[in-house]
Amino acid sequence: MGVCGSGKSTVGEILAKRLSIPFFDGDDFHPEENVAKMSKGIPLDDNDREGWLEALNKKAHEIKEGVFACSALKEKYRKVLFKGLEGKAHLVYLHGSYDLIDSRMKARENHFMPPGLLASQFETLEEPKYGLRISIDQNPDDMMNEIIEKLPKPTQEFGLIGLGVMGKSLARNLAGKGFKLGLYNRYVKGSEEQVAENFIAEHDELSAAKGFEDLSLFIGSLSTPRKIFLMVNAGKVTDLVIDELKPLLAKGDIIIDGGNSHFTDTERRIADLKEHGLHFVGSGVSGGEEGALKGPSIMPGGDKEAYEKIAPYLEAIAAKDKNGGDCCTYIGKGGSGHFVKMIHNGIEYAEMQLLAEVYAILRYVNKYSPEEISETLQNWEKGGLSSYLLEITHKLLLKKEGETHLIDIILDKAGNKGTGSWTTVSMAELGIPATLISSALFARYISSFKAKREAYESFFGLEATEHAKIEVNELKQAYELARIVNHQQGFELINEASDKYGWELNLSELARIWTNGCIIRSELMETLIETLKTSTDLLKTVEKSDLLLKLNALRNVCSAAIQVGISIPCHLSSVDYLNANLYNHPTANIIQAQRDFFGAHTYERRDDASGKKYHTQWE
Ligand code: 6PG
Repeated sequence: MGVCGSGKSTVGEILAKRLSIPFFDGDDFHPEENVAKMSKGIPLDDNDREGWLEALNKKAHEIKEGVFACSALKEKYRKVLFKGLEGKAHLVYLHGSYDLIDSRMKARENHFMPPGLLASQFETLEEPKYGLRISIDQNPDDMMNEIIEKLPKPTQEFGLIGLGVMGKSLARNLAGKGFKLGLYNRYVKGSEEQVAENFIAEHDELSAAKGFEDLSLFIGSLSTPRKIFLMVNAGKVTDLVIDELKPLLAKGDIIIDGGNSHFTDTERRIADLKEHGLHFVGSGVSGGEEGALKGPSIMPGGDKEAYEKIAPYLEAIAAKDKNGGDCCTYIGKGGSGHFVKMIHNGIEYAEMQLLAEVYAILRYVNKYSPEEISETLQNWEKGGLSSYLLEITHKLLLKKEGETHLIDIILDKAGNKGTGSWTTVSMAELGIPATLISSALFARYISSFKAKREAYESFFGLEATEHAKIEVNELKQAYELARIVNHQQGFELINEASDKYGWELNLSELARIWTNGCIIRSELMETLIETLKTSTDLLKTVEKSDLLLKLNALRNVCSAAIQVGISIPCHLSSVDYLNANLYNHPTANIIQAQRDFFGAHTYERRDDASGKKYHTQWE
């Protein structure tokens, strides 16, 4: 494309010859009325152009290969020209200055388009923001060579969009496994320029990768069916990128969303893309920057057939379990991959909070220094409680800035990106009490009201009560039991979703792929692989005597914290969950009586197992 006089017919013709494919000149497709109009010096209007553009598009559909020359000045014309050819046709825009083209046109003989029309062409021109941009400030052969050199050839086997921290690490991981990548990062003037190309230049393992900031060139570089990993922000940005991709892709292409997307968004996207013949795989990816680089845990869900095609790539880059198996497995249909990642993050929230509470008890009850707390956790690590989160916690406690521990400089105000709140909404909807997760979420929310907390502190000026030291072993037992409750609740939530949404999830496999690469990997998770083959009832794996010991420890820890005035919502939630489940001290009978009293909501009776509903006239 290009304005009249840009040389598109000349260059198109030699290009077609060189490629041994047919050439089609757009001018030859004009109906007589159009030619007559132009000969009289009257510019064509959109109506005149409509049939002409459709005729060109029709021709392009009929042939297998070819070069077309057409002015295609407006975006809406290009839309007609490329209709149904997205991803199969490439746009080459020949651009040059008005003066240069004007002088060339004046030198041209026997052409129906008088030079005076050039001004109107430039007025109509909407420069394309995609495709190849070739300067006409060179001879036709050089232009042709530049086109051939730059025309995307489908040489890259796997594409990745979004070179943020996670995207870059995944790209290096994939390239390190020998895959030829196409990498795309958007162009933002001044802040994101040549991101992909620069990134490739910085890393030897990326020498076979190709970088793009033009989406259509990127798509053109990928072999079909295209496999494209999206590593962009969840939410609106993901939708925007998908919308840009849709017209460029061909039937059978696969988009993999590796972000923390909400599973209902994933289900919507699967349905939408299916209508276009495209596959969408919503994949949880856990492990942070280092995990992405060295081996994350990957949770892909969606179309099984699409998964089979991307499995070699995802499985190759995933972390390995104890037996060398890949920490990546097909999770299930629909949004199940993103659902389990969401619950992974919920469990992560509670595991983090439990460790923060252990820290609080050791620091504020036992008056331990950060070094002593770190040492305590290191001992626990050796004593059967190793986990990634425990490891980073004992490490971070030792970090100093000058003489001061960094943790004493960090403001106690926790952030979040949403997955914990989604999990909490989900458990409420599914009717599953994953109380440690919601407690951990609300602990973060309470922490965020820092000013309010400070105001209370100075208003009341309360002194913390002293309490005898907690036995470290007792604290360890309490923490151990609370973690079992957290994992049980999390897996019960997944199990319920699996039943309700018909996903047929394999919980044991899920535990297996969570034994390495992900944030909640731990020794405990290793043991769950076996347990979850038959049940989510993790408590039953604890011996009665052991349970009693741990429960007592949990009670002592909780009462000490309550007396000193330390907030430990996750330990409290776990002891409360255990009290409610392990003992029979009815309270819901009162709730039922109240409901029936004020609203005739009825109740069931202990002495009638039939499930019959009773109502009482209370007054
Ligand atoms: C992971 C993490 C990762 C990220 C969370 C943090 O599995 O790699 O869970 O997804 O760290 O998004 O979430 P918050 O910002 O909500 O704590």
